[in-house]
Amino acid sequence: MSAAIEVSNLAKVFGGLRAVDDVTLHVAPGERRALIGPNGAGKTTLFHCVTGTLLASSGQVRLFGHDVTHLPDYRRTELGMGRTFQITNVFTELSLAEKSRSLDHRHRPAQVDYAPATFGVPGHPRAGARRA
Ligand SMILES: Nc1ncnc2c1ncn2[C@@H]1O[C@H](COP(=O)(O)OP(=O)(O)O)[C@@H](O)[C@H]1O
Ligand SMILES: [Mg+2]
Repeated sequence: MSAAIEVSNLAKVFGGLRAVDDVTLHVAPGERRALIGPNGAGKTTLFHCVTGTLLASSGQVRLFGHDVTHLPDYRRTELGMGRTFQITNVFTELSLAEKSRSLDHRHRPAQVDYAPATFGVPGHPRAGARRA
């Protein structure tokens, strides 16, 4: 079976700064891995490159065998990628019910309809994971 996540020789460069340098790791389906390191080590940048928030400068990311290295985050979501963020209280002024409604595509304008797919809202046309 393909690895759930396979990162090969991944690097991310910001100008003259090599924030992620030649990272290779495999995560099997059902396996849990922890990434540890001091502030500035490049953990968040690596997560961003794996999930598509940032595109890698070089190297490869595969998800269930699919090469997703050059795909945007919402396309990776469609293939089964999910993530949480360190700081999740984006809409501090909204109630829980209002936050839930904000993720329902029927209440959102078309230009921001990637949000339900990103969060995997059931029933959304782009929420289903495709792993074929
Ligand atoms: N968008 C960016 N532009 C330039 N430098 C960045 C950017 N994001 C992160 N960095 C730099 O990359 C390095 C790794 O940062 P980061 O991935 O946030 O580390 P960690 O999550 O391990 O604390 C740091 O030196 C940080 O300042
Ligand atoms: Mg971080």
